[in-house]
Amino acid sequence: MKEKYSAVVLAAGKGTRMGRDTEKQYLMLGKKPLLVHALETFQQCELIHQIILVADQAHVAWCREAVVEPFGLNKVTAVLAGGKERYDSVWNALSYLVSAESRINSSEENGEYVLIHDGARPFVSVPMIERICAEVKTKKACVAGMPVKDTIKLVSAGGVITESPERSMVWQAQTPQAFSLELIVQAFTKQREEGFLGITDDGMIVEKQMKVPVFMTVGSDQNIKITTPEDLVIAEAFLEAFFCKKVVDRCMGS
Ligand code: CTP
Ligand code: MG
Repeated sequence: MKEKYSAVVLAAGKGTRMGRDTEKQYLMLGKKPLLVHALETFQQCELIHQIILVADQAHVAWCREAVVEPFGLNKVTAVLAGGKERYDSVWNALSYLVSAESRINSSEENGEYVLIHDGARPFVSVPMIERICAEVKTKKACVAGMPVKDTIKLVSAGGVITESPERSMVWQAQTPQAFSLELIVQAFTKQREEGFLGITDDGMIVEKQMKVPVFMTVGSDQNIKITTPEDLVIAEAFLEAFFCKKVVDRCMGS
């Protein structure tokens, strides 16, 4: 059986918490727009068949002209308009993936998987994508994440700590989150009937709606989501460190 992996890269958010005029995914990070970093990594990963980019309606054409074409992202088979909330954007991409239009060039009927990724996470890596692709084949629903480093407290509206969960059991969810296409479409279809109140990631929808386990896959501490201005400072520092490492590796002949 030949597996087919599609990546959905989300870039239809407004970036409110970044507080800039330009949406955070289009700000420059190093020499390219922030969004391009993740797209290039999915493009480089040989397991990925196609990339669906989801952008704000007003930026769809711009993304084709200023992101997809100049950066040679020829695995991007569609640039779609997103919706008001993140789950609306994901739903648009899932609807496209099950539509006849996306199936014109698809002969494989078996083992279809989708990796949903925040375009605001520039440091997803090829090994991380390979790892989650390998795991989702048998597990059907996998969420990238890392164990937390700090102790986490649950706090009531009045500011009182109500619980201190055992740290070894607390993980921070990241993306990509990978699912069997059929499973995630079913989960979203059910959740839509109920409404999306309190839903903050795609894994949650499968946890709530489907009677299947959702597995944690090791992500990375570098796989941060750029949310506030501080995150941009960290991202620039990571880029510089990667660049220095490349220079050192080259000088050392590795
Ligand atoms: N996203 C999306 N469609 C939406 C909302 C979010 O495609 N309606 C995307 C964002 O572009 C981002 C990812 O989902 O890549 C994670 O969302 P988040 O970090 O919350 O980004 P924003 O919603 O843009 O930021 P904010 O919540 O601060 O406005
Ligand atoms: Mg948001």
